[in-house]
Amino acid sequence: MTTTARGIAVLQDPKLNKSTAFTEAEKQTLGLVGLVPDVTETEDLQLQRVNLQLAQKPTDLERYIYLINLLDHNETLFYRTLMSDPARFLPIVYDPTIGEACLKFGHIYRQARGMYLSIARRGTVKDVLKNWPEKDVRFICVTDAGRILGLGDLGANGMGIPIGKLQLYTACAGVPPQYLLPMYLDAGTNNEQYLHDPLYLGTRKTRPATDELYSFVDEFVQAVQEVFPKCCIHFEDWTGADAVHLLARYRDKYCVYNDDVQGTAGIVLAGMINAAKIKGTKLSDERYLFLGAGSAAIGLADLLCSAMVQEGLNLPQAQSRVSMFDINGLLEDSRTDLLDFQKPYAHKHAPTRDFVGAIESVKPTTIIGVSTVGGTFTQKVVETMSRINERPVVLALSNPTDHAECTPEQAYTWSKGKAIYAAGVQFPPLHYNGQTFLPGQANNFYIFPAISMAVFATQASRVTDEMFIEAARAVADQVPSELLKQGLLYPLQSNILETEIKTAARVAKLVFDSGLARVARPTDTDAFIRQHVYKPEYTAMATKAAKHA
Ligand code: NAI
Repeated sequence: MTTTARGIAVLQDPKLNKSTAFTEAEKQTLGLVGLVPDVTETEDLQLQRVNLQLAQKPTDLERYIYLINLLDHNETLFYRTLMSDPARFLPIVYDPTIGEACLKFGHIYRQARGMYLSIARRGTVKDVLKNWPEKDVRFICVTDAGRILGLGDLGANGMGIPIGKLQLYTACAGVPPQYLLPMYLDAGTNNEQYLHDPLYLGTRKTRPATDELYSFVDEFVQAVQEVFPKCCIHFEDWTGADAVHLLARYRDKYCVYNDDVQGTAGIVLAGMINAAKIKGTKLSDERYLFLGAGSAAIGLADLLCSAMVQEGLNLPQAQSRVSMFDINGLLEDSRTDLLDFQKPYAHKHAPTRDFVGAIESVKPTTIIGVSTVGGTFTQKVVETMSRINERPVVLALSNPTDHAECTPEQAYTWSKGKAIYAAGVQFPPLHYNGQTFLPGQANNFYIFPAISMAVFATQASRVTDEMFIEAARAVADQVPSELLKQGLLYPLQSNILETEIKTAARVAKLVFDSGLARVARPTDTDAFIRQHVYKPEYTAMATKAAKHA
């Protein structure tokens, strides 16, 4: 790597800074002699020091703050740390710690990261985007923070989410960080607590009407096409209705996806594929009842139906196997409060607000909790599922942890060990009745980084549902049969980079088959993906002048 920077400017640039790892030659040519200790450490020795310092931090939030600070100073060492032990570090830089970090975002804020685009900048969005220092941006992860995790409207505090999501692109699938831009579209907040917090970092206004918001988003999406023509836009943590509507608005025109809708769907589908494998059935043999009918539920139901259509059902047959129950009861054909995208899942049925009663009459083989409300899969719910199913599938996906519809302990105990269970958060292994169960985490981070790596390498012009179905199948296929027997529906997190490279290669193959790639087809897709993978290693540096000398 060559740079025109010299001396202290090198140390202040997190992309150039090697801290204590500069070689003697680099110290000489970059003017660093005397500005750093007179040693040349390896990345692994530096990692040892990071681990030592992390061990002294009392809480995960403190460890999060420490790691973000490390990123502000030394990008390579930050990613080396994350990638050295993903199972340990992903819960710190992402869920569940990120929830707490977002709640306190304005209070723990140190330094700007990503872009803040306020609705007051309407008419000049293109100019604002041009302020970003990188010219070849390939992914913008954008939120208006309408619904952060299961925590609701967090306004500018939600900026922690796009920052964290894009770190996962790199840590989980090796997408190089210089191509990634986290963005907060600031259209105000209805969160009274933040509106009155002097340290709140967003516009102090309540949210605008939907039309006004969408015209702002239209300008943003159009400006991205002009300023960053190879960029894919990842929508994250908008409210359910906005998520579904905005995806429909742009998905056939531009390279966009919504992780809450499609990524969630992909990872839950992977779990359903493996649950069917354990039972010796197919997706299209099962019946599904959702608790919650928001963006996560609709995205999953639509993708599940597409996967059942791939298995041979027609669309109405597939939709008839899926039912939903929301805050107002079972979705059925007499309901007048349903949104267009919910109607395919409202079947003929008497109105009911009794979830257990709905289970008795719909007779699902699988219940899926995406309600945001903890404890809603009660003992009666699990016992009823166990009475009508030999192996009830119980997916309690709401997060953070205390929002899970039930815990693994409850699911295994109440079903007497019969349940096939996964959650939206990580729970430890559980011992029940002499058996060890491995509750899987239906975490989107198995899917969206791999999809993004495939899009990055192939320069795909669109992100399709078929790509998410292929990613789901690829993730499901990577759980070894001995772990499936212990009820684990997802691959181990410790090996996540390898899992995602293999997943990205399968998705990339589909991109080439579908004619959506904007680069030539390679002979070996797996090797092609591996060529694009970022490695958290320092590269030899020289000044521009030194290079030309
Ligand atoms: P949303 O706000 O769009 O939808 C929530 C739905 O739950 C609505 O249909 C609402 O009517 C229903 N609901 C609320 N209270 C209820 C109750 N007491 N009983 C029955 N239904 C109730 O939210 P979204 O985006 O669909 O997310 C839902 C949950 O899924 C969140 O907690 C989120 O954390 C979780 N999620 C999990 C993921 C994963 O595990 N991979 C990924 C994305 C979301």
